[in-house]
Amino acid sequence: MRYGLKEILDIAEKGNFAIPAFNVYNLETLMGVVNAAKKTNAPIIIQMYSRLFDTDTGRFMAPVIKEMMNNLKTPVAFHLDHGVGVEEIMRAIRLGTTGVMLDVSTLPFEKNIKATKDAVLLAKEAGVGFEGELGHIGSTKDEKWADYTEAVDAVKYVNETGIDALAIMVGTAHGKYAKAPELAIGRIKEIHNNTKAHLVLHGGSGVPDNQIKAAIDAGIRKINFGTDVCCSFIEGYKKLDPYSAPLDVVMSKAAEYVENFATEKIQLLGADKI
Ligand code: 13P
Ligand code: ZN
Repeated sequence: MRYGLKEILDIAEKGNFAIPAFNVYNLETLMGVVNAAKKTNAPIIIQMYSRLFDTDTGRFMAPVIKEMMNNLKTPVAFHLDHGVGVEEIMRAIRLGTTGVMLDVSTLPFEKNIKATKDAVLLAKEAGVGFEGELGHIGSTKDEKWADYTEAVDAVKYVNETGIDALAIMVGTAHGKYAKAPELAIGRIKEIHNNTKAHLVLHGGSGVPDNQIKAAIDAGIRKINFGTDVCCSFIEGYKKLDPYSAPLDVVMSKAAEYVENFATEKIQLLGADKI
């Protein structure tokens, strides 16, 4: 069932769980996460990085994702992840997303508010949900990580921009962690208690299970997984000799590994309990 970003996250808020948002990169990663949703009867968010929407891969995958959304019996949203500007947002909406993200988190606070607020107006007009980011969530390779999102800033940001979902910096980053992160659970709770927007945790790959659970208890409602989608695909692919079987068979093994990874995360986040 095709769902908007806000509507799918409303379900998570009501049920006190989180919806996994899986970044997909090709048909097999997409098949893997969709099969996991089918198997567990769980709602999921399928998302692609901004750059993919401007490639043939993204353009060809978008109609397939739309078809899969219509086929699935559980709620599914299709989302633009880390949109870098208005052009990218318009492109993603044209390709059928039901939610978009604008990430201008490296801009000064007031400029982030202004750019986000303008983009929210467009997204609202197009009938899709909106995710903003306050407090930059960078890469695990960054030398210095940004300061954590302040609750008082989050309140102003949500009120002034009108976003539906808010990505916050609470100790995660994108990529492989050198050592397991420790999340600022108290900060998540404080932001959750004071804002209406649904809270999003980026950099979900490699976050220990107990921290994921504590983050959900504190109010996180969407958790993004990208790196480990890729890693599980590669692991599955490596299990077969690529020259010993037809390519579709080799690739279905890779999709199966992604499915197992996605199933684990769906269960960990409690999304299979609706
Ligand atoms: P990881 O690649 O670290 O899982 O982060 C995914 C993400 O936040 C996508 O926006
Ligand atoms: Zn991210």
